[in-house]
Amino acid sequence: MVFLNGQFIPEKQAFVSICDRGFQLGDGIYEVIRCYQGRPFRLGDHIERLFQSAQAIRLELPYGRDELAGFVNRLIADVTWDYADIYIQVTRGGAPRVHEFPAQIHPTVLMYVSRGQAVSPITLEQGIEAIIIPDTRGTLCNIKSVNLLPNVLARQAAAEAGAGEALFEREGIGVVEGAASNIFAVRKGVLSTGPLSPYTLPGVTRDCVLQLAKAQGLPVELEFLSREELLTADEVFITSTSKEVLAVTILAGQMIGDGRPGPITLKLASDYRSLVKRECGI
Ligand code: PDD
Repeated sequence: MVFLNGQFIPEKQAFVSICDRGFQLGDGIYEVIRCYQGRPFRLGDHIERLFQSAQAIRLELPYGRDELAGFVNRLIADVTWDYADIYIQVTRGGAPRVHEFPAQIHPTVLMYVSRGQAVSPITLEQGIEAIIIPDTRGTLCNIKSVNLLPNVLARQAAAEAGAGEALFEREGIGVVEGAASNIFAVRKGVLSTGPLSPYTLPGVTRDCVLQLAKAQGLPVELEFLSREELLTADEVFITSTSKEVLAVTILAGQMIGDGRPGPITLKLASDYRSLVKRECGI
């Protein structure tokens, strides 16, 4: 079953207009929420971010936060998979194509669940390879919008290079985030990640990791690092809803540290797992 505009219907009956502005103009926002044994992790944070994104694109959501959470919970009520992902997309709606906001328009709200996959133990143990590419995006990266063309091209470039992620390097700023992840580095025992800014998504996982680091008493700096600073870091890792905390052991063809996930990355990954276990039970 999927949720479309207030109704729970079979996927085969769920249709969106060819005039939908999400389809024609990329005029929409989204969220991805991981469920562990049917329990959504940090649902409140994701719904809050959806509201922030909606506000940023001047879209009024037709449901309140609690109502939306109720729909999500109904959607996953029968899900028994260990890992599942809830996808929520809200577009400005369907109307004859003009760039400005049409006067008479109702948002399209879609939600569905798909089976998720945990990162394999071998990948967790070895870490992934990432490439660095120029950031061709603008300054709305704090909005989780469906305009993902640069991210799609970045991930494709990574895939073609046999890498698991592409990191965006922004001129004059540094390496800001991954195509679908935030970046962290450890240098001389200090954890760093970029500050909240128009260049990065305020990741829910990033926020959890910052809280876990604080709880451990780990020194943290919120700064973008340059390519050179990242390449010479002791540890580099990415965070995202589906990848959780995942070491980057080869970056731009160079080994990070000794080429294996470092102790701080592994500790934060295991703390994150414990947090999930406490909140979701697996
Ligand atoms: N992507 N930065 C970007 C550009 C992202 O697309 C994502 C997540 C993140 C990490 O955010 P979070 O920790 O809240 O998942 C950072 C999702 C998972 C996706 O597009 O599939």
